[in-house]
Amino acid sequence: MDIKTIYNELAESYDKRYQEPIHIIEENIVLDKFYRLDPVRKVLSVGVGTGQDITALQLDSEGFLGVDISYKMLQIARRNYPNYQFQEINAVDVKEEFDTVVALFGVVNYITLAKFIDVLSAVNASQCCIVTYNVGYKPIYLKKHDIERYTKPEIELAFRENSWLSDVEGLSYPYDTQHFDMEHLMMDQCYSLAHEPISKAKYLLTTAVKTKWIS
Ligand SMILES: C[S@@+](CC[C@H](N)C(=O)[O-])C[C@H]1O[C@@H](n2cnc3c(N)ncnc32)[C@H](O)[C@@H]1O
Repeated sequence: MDIKTIYNELAESYDKRYQEPIHIIEENIVLDKFYRLDPVRKVLSVGVGTGQDITALQLDSEGFLGVDISYKMLQIARRNYPNYQFQEINAVDVKEEFDTVVALFGVVNYITLAKFIDVLSAVNASQCCIVTYNVGYKPIYLKKHDIERYTKPEIELAFRENSWLSDVEGLSYPYDTQHFDMEHLMMDQCYSLAHEPISKAKYLLTTAVKTKWIS
C-alpha cells in the first residue's frame, strides 16, 4: 500500500488521534522553536494533512498554502479550516514562491530529505521548520512500509551541503509511556518529558535557515 492510500484510509482516525493532550504538548514545543525564526509572510505547509499544522504553529490564512497528496486528509483540513487555501498536489511539484516551509510529523521521511531540500530551493524559501521520525521510530500504522529515517548528523549535513544552517533537537515522550495519565502530571512536567534526549526521542525537531556564507 502506498502513502497516499494509507492516509486516505486513516484520515478520520488520524485527525482525532492527534488532538489528544499528549500531542498538543509536543506541538507547543514545536511552536516555541518556530517562533525563534523570522516572522513569516508566505508559508507553505508540506504534507499539511488534516490541517493541524495551522493550529500548532498558529498560522494566519493570509499567505498560507497547505499541500498534500491525500484527498481524504485535505477534505478534513478544508472542513476544519474553511478560510485557508489547500491544494492536492505532490510537494515536489509546487512552483509558487514562499519564504517559509513547514513539514510536521514525518512528512520529510516520506518525501525524503534530499527532495525536501529541493522543494525549499524550488519555492525560494529562506527558512523552514520540520519534525522527522527519528531512527528506530515509525508509527504503527505504517507497519512494513519502508521509509527513510535520519539522525541528527545526517540532517545537519544535508542542510549544510545546500548552504542551510540547521538546529536539531529531540522531541516527544518515551515510547513506552503512551498511556500517561495526563491529569496527574503537571503541565511543566509534561513539557520537560517531551523534550527528549536525541537518543530516546521519537521525533527530531529541526529549524533551518538559508545562509550565504556556508561553503
Ligand atoms: C503524518 S502526516 C502529517 C500531517 C500533518 N503535517 C500533521 O502534523 O498532522 C503525513 C502527511 O504527509 C502527506 N504526504 C506524504 N508524502 C507527500 C508528498 N510527496 N507531497 C505532499 N504530501 C505528502 C501524507 O498524505 C500525510 O497527510
